[in-house]
Amino acid sequence: MKTCLVTGGFGFIGSNFIRYILKERKDIIIINVDDITYAANPKNLADNLANYKFYKVNIVDKPALSKVFNDNKIDYVVNFAAESHVDRSIMNPAVFIKTNVEGILNLLELSLKHSVERFLQISTDEVYGSLGKSGKFSEKTSLSPRSPYSASKASADMLAMSFFHTYDMPVLISRCSNNYGPYQFPEKLIPLVIINALNNKDIPLYGDGKNIRDWIYVLDHVNGIYSILEHGNVGEVYNIGGDSEMENEAIIKYILNKLNKPLSLIKYVKDRPGHDKRYAMDFTKITQEMGFLPEYNIEKGLDLTINWYLNNENWWREILSGNYKEYYKIMYDYR
Ligand code: NAD
Ligand code: DAU
Repeated sequence: MKTCLVTGGFGFIGSNFIRYILKERKDIIIINVDDITYAANPKNLADNLANYKFYKVNIVDKPALSKVFNDNKIDYVVNFAAESHVDRSIMNPAVFIKTNVEGILNLLELSLKHSVERFLQISTDEVYGSLGKSGKFSEKTSLSPRSPYSASKASADMLAMSFFHTYDMPVLISRCSNNYGPYQFPEKLIPLVIINALNNKDIPLYGDGKNIRDWIYVLDHVNGIYSILEHGNVGEVYNIGGDSEMENEAIIKYILNKLNKPLSLIKYVKDRPGHDKRYAMDFTKITQEMGFLPEYNIEKGLDLTINWYLNNENWWREILSGNYKEYYKIMYDYR
């Protein structure tokens, strides 16, 4: 048996990853370390999972994290834990530096001390900055983050690589484009649009609505992460993308049409400051080295996602009835 410490396992991608690993591999024990922030939901994972342990620990709290490493022989670390929403980083950058930078430093130091076999940092295409009309990000593109969120993620990547070069630690980095799918917190564009549309509520579209993201269904991302954990070369960065570039306006129109809702729900609102124009990933490297290709095209992925939110109304209604209401007011009233 191998033991894999997953941080942020009650969040969107982390919970999808844990479900995937526990299904695929009966020889891996998962230790989920999560502080259960606003973005987490313990209901994202079933109760009484086999080969699974949970610790409620903030990765910034080194003594508490240290206890997890002392109590268990950890073979792999996959670090999903992060503050992940760009708009929140614009309102309150400090917590992004705490979790996304100080947190990974603790994980790296403890992983080094306990001779972890592989350390995978889950990063993002946003560290590369913003593209014009043409071109794609490759692993060789210089880092040029433009929001406090992406700056904190770029810092984490650089710290992780410094441990590879300085201490010969077996570090790997994956950088992925925009995920969507089941269990995504409603602050992010796609679940926000589906839920607002179901509630016949205005859909806030930033700026001219022409910003482009390279969308990937979460199960394709999780599959790519698993390949890198198993087969990636240490000291390397791997891009993961969905090969599905789409303007925000087009995504929203697709969802509204699928739900038979009027396009008049769309409200063009004040733009996000420093709003990155376009992201697009060149993921040739992971395809050539590991045969990775996304399996879900955007229509198939969106249809599955829309159906999941239609069939899991209790999951999102519970979130909407809590602190999310206040967040929504603060974030959208001024727009
Ligand atoms: P999320 O916000 O849904 O979940 C984050 C999880 O981390 C939550 O469970 C939260 O409780 C936990 N967490 C936050 N701070 C913590 C702390 N200090 N200690 C312990 N746990 C803490 O995020 P997500 O969308 O699932 O993203 C997961 C990772 O993937 C992040 O590192 C993010 O940067 C990266 N990523 C996300 C996307 C995307 O489109 N969502 C794309 C590429 C990369
Ligand atoms: O690219 C990967 C990144 O994707 C991840 O690293 C981040 O963790 C994740 O949050 C996501 O960042 P984005 O800022 O691209 O995602 P978001 O869903 O916030 O926004 C997607 C696009 O939609 C973006 O151009 C802003 C726009 N948008 C977003 C919201 C929430 C709107 O027009 N209206 C909205 O209400």
